[in-house]
Amino acid sequence: MLKDKNIALYVTGGIAVYKAVDLLRTFIKEGANVRVGMTESATKFVNPLTFQVLSRNEVHIDTFYESTPEHLAHIHISDWADIAVVAPATTNTIAKIAHGIADNFVTSSLVATKAPVFVVPAMNTDMYENQATQANIQTLENRGIKVLEPDTGFLAEGYEGKGRFPDKERILDELESFIIQHSEDLPLKGYKFLVSAGGTEERIDPVRYITNDSSGKTGYAIARAAYYQGADVQLVTTAEHPLPNAIEKIKVSSADEMYQVIDKLFELTDVLVMTAAVADYKVASQSKSKMKKDELADKIVIELEENPDILKAMGNKKDKQFLVGFAAETENLEEYARKKLEKKNLDMIIANDVSREDTGFNVDFNEVIILTKDDKRFDISRQTKNNIARIVVEKIINELNA
Ligand code: CTP
Repeated sequence: MLKDKNIALYVTGGIAVYKAVDLLRTFIKEGANVRVGMTESATKFVNPLTFQVLSRNEVHIDTFYESTPEHLAHIHISDWADIAVVAPATTNTIAKIAHGIADNFVTSSLVATKAPVFVVPAMNTDMYENQATQANIQTLENRGIKVLEPDTGFLAEGYEGKGRFPDKERILDELESFIIQHSEDLPLKGYKFLVSAGGTEERIDPVRYITNDSSGKTGYAIARAAYYQGADVQLVTTAEHPLPNAIEKIKVSSADEMYQVIDKLFELTDVLVMTAAVADYKVASQSKSKMKKDELADKIVIELEENPDILKAMGNKKDKQFLVGFAAETENLEEYARKKLEKKNLDMIIANDVSREDTGFNVDFNEVIILTKDDKRFDISRQTKNNIARIVVEKIINELNA
């Protein structure tokens, strides 16, 4: 998401400056270009050289120091930026931004920027809760500036309170959502995606169930990839993995539960992607209490009955929806997958060979064939499930625009 984005990182003076170093490294790792501006007080906590080395760009501190005569540094950086991030933001800088004060490099540059501004406050609890700080934060938010809520925890002052610099993961998550909100040209803007993930759990009794090897990673990766292309995403899942807050997660366990949720949401869905490994059978009569060994014979038979085929049911009732299925096969990959595509009235199917140990269930890699209703075939070589998800979403976009 941050790849090739130009980020102006403004660092202001609080103890959390050292955490901004790690944030900068994360931006670089994600493929962003970063230029840093610091206040004088920020330089008291961490030497600007650290930011310079990591960003591979000159760090700006003094508004009146111009290393290149062709342009004014504080205007140049604000024009160059796709997004401005103030982290950590002190109560002093927040107050200045709120009132349009431009008395140092950071605040002058922020007054001049047309890029969306994302603020990460970090300060003492009492300073954060002070009425003036809160009023200034409100002013920024009214202006469309995103101000993150600090974390609660152990503060530099030696006691617990609200004001900590948030976890890097949360900052990234919120920053990506903020960028998506500000991007008008994303190809899936306005589309509603419904994605299913994980292996269903079919109860035998209150403490035992039948399930399968699906980790749910592909479903999560598809949900994320669609969201990064601007889609509004709902994920129905049996599995737990990290997910951006803006994706609505609906936890289910059995195939019946998954069916009920998907059936309810289907009408308002534009694209349904079924990556879930739905159990074909469930236990015919679940025991309400734990089955006790003493009360059972040496050999027991558990009777199974068919589960609903969710995808097939949606294929039967679809009107405008674009349906994507997955086919997990151990032989005759393309033939079986194409049969499923036709039988379930799908628009696209992603086939993978689950007999291989280096791809498929429970590993981070996959190799797939993508087949479409109108006989297109794409062979996607072995790569991470995240990459595969991006490619699948790309193919869906192409089909939606065809
Ligand atoms: N699927 C579903 N409901 C089921 C079984 C499968 O919605 N009860 C969906 C899966 O999420 C997947 C597609 O159908 O997207 C194909 O699943 P798969 O297990 O490969 O195929 P089945 O139809 O179950 O056929 P078989 O197990 O015989 O290969």
